[in-house]
Amino acid sequence: MSTAISKVGVLGAGTMGHGIAHVSATKGHSVVLYDLKPELTQKGLAAITRNLDVGVEKKKVTPEERAAALGRISLTSTLSDVAGCELIIEAVPEKIELKQELFRELSGLVGESCILASNTSSLSLTEIAAAAKKPERVVGMHFFNPVHLMKLLELVRAYQTSPETLAAARAFGEKIGKQLIVVEDSPGFASTRLGLAVGLEAIRMLEERVASAEDIDRAMELGYGYPMGPLKLGDLVGLDIRLNIAEYLYRELGTPTFRPPQLLKKMVRAGKLGKKSGEGFYRY
Ligand SMILES: NC(=O)c1ccc[n+]([C@@H]2O[C@H](COP(=O)([O-])OP(=O)(O)OC[C@H]3O[C@@H](n4cnc5c(N)ncnc54)[C@H](O)[C@@H]3O)[C@@H](O)[C@H]2O)c1
Repeated sequence: MSTAISKVGVLGAGTMGHGIAHVSATKGHSVVLYDLKPELTQKGLAAITRNLDVGVEKKKVTPEERAAALGRISLTSTLSDVAGCELIIEAVPEKIELKQELFRELSGLVGESCILASNTSSLSLTEIAAAAKKPERVVGMHFFNPVHLMKLLELVRAYQTSPETLAAARAFGEKIGKQLIVVEDSPGFASTRLGLAVGLEAIRMLEERVASAEDIDRAMELGYGYPMGPLKLGDLVGLDIRLNIAEYLYRELGTPTFRPPQLLKKMVRAGKLGKKSGEGFYRY
């Protein structure tokens, strides 16, 4: 079986989808970017164009590379248009039913050897794979935001993922310039589980008035070299998303580490969701 991937389908043109389309096209792949409506794919393409423009301004991308990358991306709101792709990466909202439904539908559209990848940051890959006709061709490809700048790609091996599928995902990840880690399907994988443990503990420390939000963040930024403190990062990710994942990990793993702090619950109930709502641990 060939592992060379030249045509990539990306489902969902939001924050992660447009980033995945961007890096795939920049590294020479044809990309079919799918979302529910043309205005959504247009919005994704506009974001890719803006990011490439910044790259040109900073002399990290040449005007020719920018033009070539944009020329490799086609937009669609018809799912069957991704049928000819060798790799399809979904980046639709974090809902298991939605991801399973897409993989079920794709199973009837794609070729035998097509790899279906999910960019989920916490859901069970094994459960998502179970909805596909060829679950051994399903793998987790967990990218980080912003995709064109963050180096890490966390590959997640579902219970069903075959060694060939993992090898093909690895080869693709390396081709698009990412640094890889491989993790077994386990709640929160490696990155989300560890990141959230620190994030929730920082909230508990704020609750206990151990230090101010600014000083808790500075402790990790200056003492441990984190590019951004855990509370600032929570504001950026969205406190509602943090809470959802904490509830899920607490349910799945049962360790007190992931019990959602009262302060987090209260802030979400009050609509203080972080940067997107104008206020979280900081004001924006
Ligand atoms: N935002 C992050 O920092 C981040 C990081 C890593 C992983 N993730 C994961 O990536 C996935 C996407 O997150 P996001 O932040 O890009 O979300 P987003 O809301 O920015 O984008 C989701 C896109 O999916 C589209 N969509 C919804 N239903 C669809 C369907 N049935 N078919 C095709 N498209 C559909 C929406 O129109 C939207 O454009 C989630 O699973 C999330 O957990 C997010």
